[in-house]
Amino acid sequence: MAKDKTIYTCTECGGTSPKWLGKCPHCGAWNTLIESVAESHSPVKNRFASLAKPSEVATLADIEATDMARTPTGHEELDRVLGGGIVEGGVVLIGGDPGIGKSTLLLQALDSLQRGFDARLSAAGPTQGAKASSGGTLYVTGEESGAQVALRSRRLGLDGSQVKVLAEIQLEKILATLEATRPAVAVIDSIQTVYSDQLTSAPGSVAQVRECAAHLTRAAKSSGVCIILVGHVTKEGALAGPRVLEHMVDTVLYFEGDTHSSFRLVRAIKNRFGAVNEIGVFAMTEKGLKGVTNPSAIFLSQHSEPVPGSCVLVTLEGTRPMLVEIQALVDSGGPSPRRLSVGLDRDRLAMLLAVLHRHAGIACMDQDVFVNAVGGVRISEPAADLSVMLAITSSLRGKPLPKGFIAFGEVGLAGEVRPAPRGQERLKEAAKLGFSVAVVPKANAPKKPIEGLTIHAVERVEQAIEVVRSLA
Ligand SMILES: Nc1ncnc2c1ncn2[C@@H]1O[C@H](COP(=O)(O)OP(=O)(O)OP(=O)(O)O)[C@@H](O)[C@H]1O
Ligand SMILES: [Mg+2]
Repeated sequence: MAKDKTIYTCTECGGTSPKWLGKCPHCGAWNTLIESVAESHSPVKNRFASLAKPSEVATLADIEATDMARTPTGHEELDRVLGGGIVEGGVVLIGGDPGIGKSTLLLQALDSLQRGFDARLSAAGPTQGAKASSGGTLYVTGEESGAQVALRSRRLGLDGSQVKVLAEIQLEKILATLEATRPAVAVIDSIQTVYSDQLTSAPGSVAQVRECAAHLTRAAKSSGVCIILVGHVTKEGALAGPRVLEHMVDTVLYFEGDTHSSFRLVRAIKNRFGAVNEIGVFAMTEKGLKGVTNPSAIFLSQHSEPVPGSCVLVTLEGTRPMLVEIQALVDSGGPSPRRLSVGLDRDRLAMLLAVLHRHAGIACMDQDVFVNAVGGVRISEPAADLSVMLAITSSLRGKPLPKGFIAFGEVGLAGEVRPAPRGQERLKEAAKLGFSVAVVPKANAPKKPIEGLTIHAVERVEQAIEVVRSLA
């Protein structure tokens, strides 16, 4: 019998090479190639595919464009990031730091989905009910025993939960169970523990993760079951396993936020069925994760009087505007001053300091500069620039910004203030939460005044600084 061909797979990018190399020829990472079995020599028989009949080919125009049926999970914040609920045949990958609450959230979601299915079943009557008996939920646990999952469900107050639990890590058995029980939604906790006996490499290796995810995805597409995969993250915070995993699935969700605080953010990084960068905000309680309906409240610290170095930003993550406090501390530094940022991009901070010096004549060369987005939120949009800049100047001068002040806008290297997308919505959200003064890019100034909000439209950085000085 011919010896199985081995190839070397990069743990970073999933690229392959026929021989071992110190540096991956695809992504250039060092020491990442590991031995695995060549895929063409180890086909795993897809049990779902073997049962499926050949499909008919249809012309695009002939296909009826029905909107995808979404089943809400009953957790509003989770539905928001999913784009409205779970989709038949959809595959969701959810990643996050250890202990952040992945299993908790999914167990809660499965339980409320199961309750929804049961309610629909009993409403449909016995004849319809028998037909729909296959649609339900399945929680496949590879990391914990059934007893541990049960213990968690009791703690979460999910007594009498009808969620089906399978403690299994072998792919072929999981696929067979999915085929036999035909659930509507299945959670695989986690993809790194699942292994296929057709591959010799250990569970969690690149080859195994890729192979198992590919088969589960195929099973989801052919049978219509929605599969939610839990993924581990690497030390660097990226999803462990090859990048291809993110391409394979329909939706990628990430748990973010500080494990020290009780708030958890779930962000959609990729979504074939909804908006990306949408975030759901949860609070971790003894009874599990609870959705936070007014997230702005947690990203603002409650100062009774304005303090120097604090500026409120209206950010738009996904489709929802949120108010986040940006804090800056500028303090005299040593011979090599430090620039540190939490929740904001550090390179962008260095750029803003350079713009501030060049165009507004405000120098922080000999100062340590620290900036922080309150509440553990990560801000990636450039519309935060103006707020960061105003917080820095406020701290440097030791003068607080006016009470009820907000700002947003992107700052360019030439010192111009560029508009942010959907400025009107941001301003309306600020007015709704009782803010009264705003400094915004000229193009974002509304044509009609917004009640309760005085708006100062600026075109340049120095103009923004001047406006703030005149208000103080
Ligand atoms: N009795 C409790 N009261 C409050 N919070 C609790 C309690 N027990 C556990 N938790 C919270 O639940 C978290 C664990 O959640 P969970 O097991 O869902 O995380 P996970 O993301 O699945 O972790 P892993 O990657 O290890 O599987 C803990 O970090 C803690 O914050
Ligand atoms: Mg877990």
